This record gives sequence, C-alpha cells and structure tokens, in this order.
Amino acid sequence: MQVMEDSSMGSTEESGTPMRKETVYEKVNLLVSSNAVVIFTISGCSMCHVVKQLLFGLGVGPTIMELDRDACGRDIHRLLFQQQPVPAVFVGGKFLGGIETVVACHINGTLIPLLKEAGALWL
Ligand SMILES: *[C@@H]1O[C@H](CO)[C@@H](O)[C@H](O)[C@H]1NC(C)=O
Repeated sequence: MQVMEDSSMGSTEESGTPMRKETVYEKVNLLVSSNAVVIFTISGCSMCHVVKQLLFGLGVGPTIMELDRDACGRDIHRLLFQQQPVPAVFVGGKFLGGIETVVACHINGTLIPLLKEAGALWL
C-alpha cells in the first residue's frame, strides 16, 4: 500500500499563496457593496441555516458566501472571521450582525425597511 504522507510532507499550503490581507478586504468590500444582502456562512452551521430561511421567507435572495467552500473563503475566514462568528449578515453594504441581531431587527420591525432601503425587497 502506498504511504500518502510522504507526498504531502512539504506542502502544507496546497492552495498556493494565501491572498494578501488587502486583497481579502477588497474582495469582501466588493462583495458586500455590490449585493444587497450577503451572508457569510460555513456549512453545517445551524444558525446560518436559520438566518437563510428567515431571509428566504421574506422573499430576499441573499448572496451566500460559504467560507469553507468558496475558493477564497478560507482566506476570508482566516483574516476576518476569527473573532466574528457566522452567520454574519451584511445589508446594503453594511454589517448588520449575526443571528441575534437579524432576529431582533425582524421582531422590532426594522429589518424589512432596511431590506427595502438596500433594494433587496420591493414590496
Ligand atoms: C431593533 O433591534 C436592533 C437589534 O437589537 C437594534 O439595533 C435597533 O436599535 C432596534 N430598533 C428599534 C427601533 O427598536
């Protein structure tokens, strides 16, 4: 049987050079400023699922950045999401918050106006 360890010994960074911090910030900025609603998620995160369902239920089609699936997601995760838990929701180019904030805004009636203002909802 082939011993696989030998071939991977020298290459811990298999995806090539990690992106520079500035490049990652630029990418995130571009992503959140060119989409009305962006959710940063990781797979298997139940609160990510909840926030997606809440927005889908309101008729919003959010842009979903899966940090553990997207090609540059790992760099984004490494640089920006060490402290900030997922889901992280951006509306109209601004960081809104996590699940608690989104639910709280939904309950106090500020979420829908915010979504309308961002152009994520028309009705
Ligand atoms: C609604 O809830 C959010 C999140 O807790 C809070 O930031 C905001 O100030 C609240 N707005 C009103 C009008 O209560």
